[in-house]
Amino acid sequence: MRNGLMAAGLVLAVTLVSGAHGNPRFDYLLHCGGCHLEDGSGDPPEVPDLRVDVSYMIGFDAGRAYLVQVPGSAQSPMSDAALADVLNWMVDTYNPELEGDFERFDEEEVARHRATRLLDPKRARAALWPEPTDSD
Ligand code: HEC
Repeated sequence: MRNGLMAAGLVLAVTLVSGAHGNPRFDYLLHCGGCHLEDGSGDPPEVPDLRVDVSYMIGFDAGRAYLVQVPGSAQSPMSDAALADVLNWMVDTYNPELEGDFERFDEEEVARHRATRLLDPKRARAALWPEPTDSD
């Protein structure tokens, strides 16, 4: 009986800890899902549908910077490493057409882009078409 209770407590503790750390789906639902919704559909045009253009934008540096710098991403209370995990999870989940074949974000890249504040997200987004060249 006592062992059973201890085991139950241990399971609960492990569940709570793993739910609070290193769980990108949990972080997405907590920090992003309120606006972007559980299925990523958002509320276009105000809140973009994450299943539409992210797979394009993740393919080049200016697009990747934008994905990190939008206020919902950059200003979330998550660490750079946790935000990298959420962004990778977001692409895996809402852009399955990529079949995981994209350059994954890491802590260093998120920190680098996050250091620049995006003043006008809609303008920055519009500037991504056509794909900017290095001389832009
Ligand atoms: C308060 C609502 C809100 C929250 C919370 C939020 N976002 Fe957003 N998100 C927006 C809006 C609005 C835009 C459109 C750009 C803008 O005006 O900021 C956007 C744009 C984006 C985009 C660009 C998609 C595109 O197609 O342009 C990404 C990626 C994104 N958010 C990721 C996230 C992530 C990751 C989180 C959680 C860490 C998050 N957002 C939290 C409202 C939100």
